[in-house]
Amino acid sequence: MLFGRNVLKFVLSLRFLHPQSYILTPPSLMSLLDQLNWRYATKIFDTQKKIPQDQLDQLLETLRLSPSSYGLQPWKFVLVKNPEIRAKLREAAWGQAQVTDASHFLVFCSMTNVSSETVEHYAKEIAETRGTPLVELEGFKNMMLDFVKGKTPEFLSTWAGKQVYITLGTLLTSAAVMQIDACPMEGFDNAKFDEILGLKEKNLHAEVVCALGYRSPEDKYASAKKVRESKAEKFIEV
Ligand SMILES: Cc1cc2nc3c(=O)[nH]c(=O)nc-3n(C[C@H](O)[C@H](O)[C@H](O)COP(=O)(O)O)c2cc1C
Repeated sequence: MLFGRNVLKFVLSLRFLHPQSYILTPPSLMSLLDQLNWRYATKIFDTQKKIPQDQLDQLLETLRLSPSSYGLQPWKFVLVKNPEIRAKLREAAWGQAQVTDASHFLVFCSMTNVSSETVEHYAKEIAETRGTPLVELEGFKNMMLDFVKGKTPEFLSTWAGKQVYITLGTLLTSAAVMQIDACPMEGFDNAKFDEILGLKEKNLHAEVVCALGYRSPEDKYASAKKVRESKAEKFIEV
């Protein structure tokens, strides 16, 4: 009887828990850290193993959900499917095999034409998505317009590039959680990538790239110890 009442009390207490409030309780936090220790920048991919479409879709969705300053999302992602283009990109990436050998290859691009138009478009998106009258968004919109108008194109390009790197972080963590291997890469000629993919005409610039797939058993880096400085070295408490 006592047992039954305790069970009932426990079940009732669950009703007040937000569904996400227990996501980072110790057991799952442990598994998140395990996954982050499991991941590594994969050097040799298994050329035979492909990421199933449904998993790829989920992974790409995490990119779309990435946060950005003001929420302006000054980015686009190019999924390079054509093997000939991937071979050309490999040449422009110092021959790094991950470009051609991984299951999938993504190019993270920043928008080079962030302007008042971008802001106007975004304000309309908010209004439509949330059913908010545009007049109520005037204050927020004007703040974004002031930001965009007050900056040089160079500043805005750098700013957009920083936003793109947030999406790379999202992708790397998401891939690790999904047990998909990844190699983030900056070792490539950005201008050549822009040229090969025709990005300039689309007002885009290749910032960083990522190979995705599954590690080959031959990749000795999979078992290499992580080299990270200590907490004492990297955290300051004030
Ligand atoms: C932005 C960025 C660019 C990188 N560029 C390359 C690259 O071009 N080629 C490569 O093999 N690894 C590249 N790496 C992988 C890093 O060398 C690797 O993440 C780092 O040494 C830490 O090791 P781990 O990721 O295996 O834990 C890059 C990583 C990041 C985050």
